[in-house]
Amino acid sequence: MGRRERGGSPSEGEGAGEGLTRRGLFRRLGVAGTAAALVNSSCKVQDGELEAPAVDLGPDTSGAFGLDAAPLNFTLDGKAVDTKAEARTTLLELLRLDLDATGTKVVCDRGACGACMVLVDGVARNSCMLLAHDVAGAEVTTVAGLGASGELSALQQAFVDHDALQCGFCTSGMLISASALLRKGGGPGKAAGMTAAQVEDGLAGNLCRCGTYPHVVAAVLSVAKGERVDRVPTERIALGEDGSKPARAQKGGAA
Ligand code: FES
Ligand code: FES
Repeated sequence: MGRRERGGSPSEGEGAGEGLTRRGLFRRLGVAGTAAALVNSSCKVQDGELEAPAVDLGPDTSGAFGLDAAPLNFTLDGKAVDTKAEARTTLLELLRLDLDATGTKVVCDRGACGACMVLVDGVARNSCMLLAHDVAGAEVTTVAGLGASGELSALQQAFVDHDALQCGFCTSGMLISASALLRKGGGPGKAAGMTAAQVEDGLAGNLCRCGTYPHVVAAVLSVAKGERVDRVPTERIALGEDGSKPARAQKGGAA
């Protein structure tokens, strides 16, 4: 005697006999009906042809960054820059490698030393930690843009006067941080109450391996207090053609 299938007689079960059983027929009709309903709901028939359903491709990404360089505009040291940069390019790389603005130094390249600092809309930022496209439309100032054309700024001259640099690798970043600090305090000569502790705080993100800190603080305080500092054309402190150091800048220039 054959074993009885659960839920029905052997004649009603699938595969119980040759050909199509009643249950199998109903199941197949059910599947075919569902498939037909799905096709009817997503496809259209046009001119007797079945038209493929519209496929959702997600948001329009045609204007998004890809691997290629994308246009970038900003102001660098007072001049308009119209360039291109890949999305992965840091501001530091763009400045030094593409725009030849080598006054901005690269030391750690990971936000630890402050050598790469620039002003972005007046705020000191580590350019190695910014993407180039982060400054789109902004005003970027490097150490080369601190002085007027051909002249050192009061702060730059104070660094010279106070021997606030040795190897000079930290100096451009120090000058940028000190500039930001002086701006916050009202500007050169307008921050007479500034203390050494405040200057040290302001320069906390700038490391100097040569240990020029006391001289840097003295230079910044002298500018904050508006002590007379000489401003000399940069040509006068450039190295001679043979690489020799120039005579020390004359005192008594314009304040
Ligand atoms: S090079 Fe950017 S913080 Fe050191
Ligand atoms: S002057 Fe050499 S690192 Fe500061």
